Amino acid sequence: MSDEILNSDQGLGAIIERRFHRRTLLGGLFKSIPAVALMGSQISAMETTGVSAEAAIDEAAKEAAKDSRITFSPISLSREDAINVPAGYKVGILAKWGDPITADAPSFDPNNQTAEAQSKQFGYNNDWLDFFPLPAHNVPNPNLGLIVVNHEYTNPELMFKNWTDATQTKAMTDIELNAHGLSVFEVMRDRNGDWTPMPGGRYGRRITAFTPMEVTGPAAGHELLRTSADPSGRRVTGTLNNCSGGKTPWGTVLSGEENFHQYFSNAGALPAGRVKDMHSRYGVPTASGSYPSWARHYDRFDVAKEPNEPFRFGWIIEFDPYDATSVPKKRTALGRVRHEGCTIQIAQNGRVVAYTGDDERFQFAYKFVSSKSYNHFDRAANADILDEGALYVAKFNDDGSGDWLPLTFGTGRLTAANGFNSQADVLINTRGAAAALGATPMDRPEDMEVNPVNGKVYLALTNNTARTDLNKDKSNPRANNRYGHIIEITEDNGDHTATRFFWEIFILCGDGNNPAHGTFFAGYDPKKVSALANPDNITFDSKGNLWIATDGQPGVIGANDGIYAVPTDGAERGYVRQLCSTVVGAESASLVFNPDDTALFVTVQHPGEGGKWTDNPSDLTSKFPDGAGPNKPAIIVISKATGNPVVGS
Ligand code: FEO
Ligand code: CA
Ligand code: CA
Repeated sequence: MSDEILNSDQGLGAIIERRFHRRTLLGGLFKSIPAVALMGSQISAMETTGVSAEAAIDEAAKEAAKDSRITFSPISLSREDAINVPAGYKVGILAKWGDPITADAPSFDPNNQTAEAQSKQFGYNNDWLDFFPLPAHNVPNPNLGLIVVNHEYTNPELMFKNWTDATQTKAMTDIELNAHGLSVFEVMRDRNGDWTPMPGGRYGRRITAFTPMEVTGPAAGHELLRTSADPSGRRVTGTLNNCSGGKTPWGTVLSGEENFHQYFSNAGALPAGRVKDMHSRYGVPTASGSYPSWARHYDRFDVAKEPNEPFRFGWIIEFDPYDATSVPKKRTALGRVRHEGCTIQIAQNGRVVAYTGDDERFQFAYKFVSSKSYNHFDRAANADILDEGALYVAKFNDDGSGDWLPLTFGTGRLTAANGFNSQADVLINTRGAAAALGATPMDRPEDMEVNPVNGKVYLALTNNTARTDLNKDKSNPRANNRYGHIIEITEDNGDHTATRFFWEIFILCGDGNNPAHGTFFAGYDPKKVSALANPDNITFDSKGNLWIATDGQPGVIGANDGIYAVPTDGAERGYVRQLCSTVVGAESASLVFNPDDTALFVTVQHPGEGGKWTDNPSDLTSKFPDGAGPNKPAIIVISKATGNPVVGS
C-alpha cells in the first residue's frame, strides 16, 4: 500500500480522530481513547480490506465487550529453576545479555568483556519493555515491530567472574555504565509464528549511562542542576536505573529513572542545609552506596565532590525509538521521584495525562496533565507537549473518594515560606512538595496502567512491612503488608484530567487459602485463585484483562516470581490465575503483548540473584539461560502452540 493511501483520510489517524469525536458524543459510555487498543492489528486489517472505519470501530468495541474470560489452566507455585507455563504454551528466548544490538556489535565473550562491546550489546537486567509497530507511523505490519527495553541495574557479582568490589577496575565500572540504559531493536514474526530479533539496521540502538541527554521543562537550567561538567544545568550524561516506562500515542518512549540514589556515595560529607536535606529525602547514601567503585572512578558519583549530580536523575526521559540519532530529553515537568512507569492516556478534551508511581514505602502516586492538546495529525506538534502542564499527587480519602492535589508553585503550602521559590523548586523536590500538601503515603506505588476497555486506572502497590496499625488507612489497609495490593481508580466522570476520583481495593494479595494473609480478590472466592504476592508491573490485553508481574514472592510466599492474569469485569472479576513462573533468583520484571495478543513478551530480570559467578559452579543459584555461568537476564516470549491469543482458547 502506498504512503499516499496510508496517510489519507482513511488512514489510522483518521480512524483515531473519528473515534475520538464519536466517543465524546457518546458521553458516559466512552470517556477516553484507548490508544494502544486502537493500534491493534484488528482495526488495521479491517481497514486494509476495505471495511469502513466506523464499522471497524464498532467491531472492535464489540470484541472488547465480550469474551473477557481467561481459559488457560493455572500452573502451580514453583521453586524450580525453570520457566513453567501451562500445557499448550511455548516459551522462547528473544534476546539476552550480550546479544548484538547495533550493526557493529562484536560477539559476546563474558570472560573478556569490554565497555565498547557492551555499548553495542544488549544490556543487563532488562525491566520494562514495549512493542512499537512498524512501519513507523503507518498502518502496522502485524509481523514486524520494535522492542524497546530498559536495563535497570547491574549485578557485578554475576557479570564478572570472581568479582569483588576491592578489585573492580575502571574498565569494569565502564562496562556496568554501558550495561545500564535501554536497547532498541527490530523483531520479526516468522512463518511458525515465532518472534526473532533483527539487530542492526536503522533502528538498532543502545542508550547508556554515557549517552548525552537534554534537560527540558521548568527545572532545566536551575542552579541545583548545574555541575562542574555542565554549568548550564541542561546537559546530562546518561540515564540510570530505568525501571518501568511507557509509550506515547505519538510513538515515543518514556522511561522512568527509579533507584538512582544508590549509585552515589558520600552525601554525609555535605554541609547541613537544603541540598543535604533533599538528598536525605531521596535516600542518597551518606557514605558508600551500592556501587562504591563508581564514586572511586568518577567524581560525578561522589556527592562530596559533585553535590548536585543526583538532582540530574530521578526524571522521566523521552526519546524517539524510530530515530536512532534522537537525543533523549529529561522531562522535568513530570516531577523528580523514584519513578516507576509512565502511562499516557489522552483525555476526552485532548489533554495528555501521564500516570506515574514513586516506588518506596510511604511515597506517593502522581499524574501530569498537559497544557496543550494532543494533535493526532501532526506528530511534531506533540514533540515537547510533556514540558508544560500541571503535576498532581493523589490523596486517597477513607470514604472511597480521592483528590488530585496540584503541585503548583504558589498554591497551598508550596510557597517561599516553606522553601519553594519556583515551580522548578517544586519539581526538583517533588517528594517534599507532595508531603507538604498532605498526599497519602502508599505501600510502594509501582506501576499505574489504564484499562483500555473500562478506562479505569490500576495502581500496583508492592508491599510495605513498615505499615502499622497506627498509620494504616483504608487505601493501605493492612499492617505489615508483606503481600501488596492493587487499587482500582475511577476518574470523576471518566475524565482523566479530573481533580477528583473514586477508588476501591481490587485485590489484597496473598494466599487465599491462608486466612492469616487477609486476602481479597474483588469478591471472588479466595480459595479458588492462584496465590499471588508483590504486584509490580502490570499490563492489559486488548480485552481488558489485567496481567500482573510480581517481584518478591520467594521471600513472602516461598515461590518464584511469575505472571498472573485476572479479569476486571464480569462474573470472573477477581479470578486470578498464574500463567508463568520464572527461574530461581529472578523477577518477572515486566510484560507486554504484541498488538494481536498472540505473544506475551516478558523480561526475566536478575536470574540467579543471591548467587555469584566464580570458578565454583555451585556458587550459581540458577543455570538460566545457558545451563552454565554466567546467568543472563533475558526477554522471553510466551505464546500458544496454536498461535491463538495468549489469554486462551
Ligand atoms: Fe524497579 Fe520499583 O521496581
Ligand atoms: Ca518495577
Ligand atoms: Ca520492582
